[in-house]
Amino acid sequence: MKEIDWSSLGFHYTEPDYIVRSACHDGVWEEPYATKDKYLHLHVSATCLQYGQEAFEGLKAFRGVDGKIRIFRWRENAKRMAKSAIGLFMKPVPEEVFGKAIRLALEKNIDLVPPYGTGATLYFRPLLIGTTPRLGVGPGKDFEFIVIPSPIGPYYPGKFHCTTFVVNRHVDRAAPYGTGQFKVGGNYAASFRATEAAHAMGMDCLFLDAKYHRYIDECSAANFIGIRRVSADGKPCGEIEYLTPRSSAILPSITNDSLMTLAKERGMKVTRRHVRLEELSEMSEAAACGTACVISPIDKVIDLDKNVTYSFGNEPGPVLSELYHALRDIQFGRAEDTHGWTEIFEI
Ligand SMILES: Cc1ncc(COP(=O)(O)O)c(C=O)c1O
Repeated sequence: MKEIDWSSLGFHYTEPDYIVRSACHDGVWEEPYATKDKYLHLHVSATCLQYGQEAFEGLKAFRGVDGKIRIFRWRENAKRMAKSAIGLFMKPVPEEVFGKAIRLALEKNIDLVPPYGTGATLYFRPLLIGTTPRLGVGPGKDFEFIVIPSPIGPYYPGKFHCTTFVVNRHVDRAAPYGTGQFKVGGNYAASFRATEAAHAMGMDCLFLDAKYHRYIDECSAANFIGIRRVSADGKPCGEIEYLTPRSSAILPSITNDSLMTLAKERGMKVTRRHVRLEELSEMSEAAACGTACVISPIDKVIDLDKNVTYSFGNEPGPVLSELYHALRDIQFGRAEDTHGWTEIFEI
């Protein structure tokens, strides 16, 4: 067993033993293979370098309470990567190749799956790049699919805690009908000016829609969720509403999709629509959600331009805490997986 101090593992890259690769030439994907070599022999004019023709994914394997390893909803990641590939004029990785590569990456790095109880997991970063050398602007026709595994520490090493977000109207992450709905590197590079400015203030960045700067798009690299208990006119309303933005510029989060299902099962009203920034004042709880954190509760959203602060309390709220634990329990095998979200990896 590799000597890793699981308890001090941070939320950053740890070199795996093997990565998995598969190239595509003339439309045919080769059988995925494992290699210890972490470097690519890539042409300097490859379309991924010249024109950003690349897409990626993020998913996790969990060591459960029963010692079994569960991979969470990898088929959804395969489908989303196929959409990103089509969005950037790349050859989609067939689901079968995607699944084989993930399983092989897990098998070859089995010692890197953190033990149950540490909160740590094995993260997979599938990556698809265009490798055709090209100087004229246009897409390539050769691709490489790579799966990079890395054990990562728990997002909340101590207590489940809150984050503060600051609104940015001066940098847009993605345009409506642009590439925001795809998981492609360009969106992230485009967001760095805003996210780094927010980090410099000790906060994270809340992106608004790029056209009107009126509606909530995303929370840094995560979807937004709000919980409402009162109607727009301020009257108490009996049911709990799980509200999340609908926008052509946001990434459809697999975590958000899972949480929406769990929320509906708990009798909540689940609404997906444009969400105006000012509606934050009607929400009792707010959070960012994604694979990395599941749910990252928000204590405050600060709108510096308008000198307004929306506050949700300093502790994670009860509704989002319940959903967080419900999903974590499925991922770690503590609750029955009635949705077939986890695939048990037989060792
Ligand atoms: C921009 C963006 N939005 C949302 C998410 C959350 O998606 P998921 O729940 O599938 O991890 C991510 C992370 O993948 C992301 O990068």
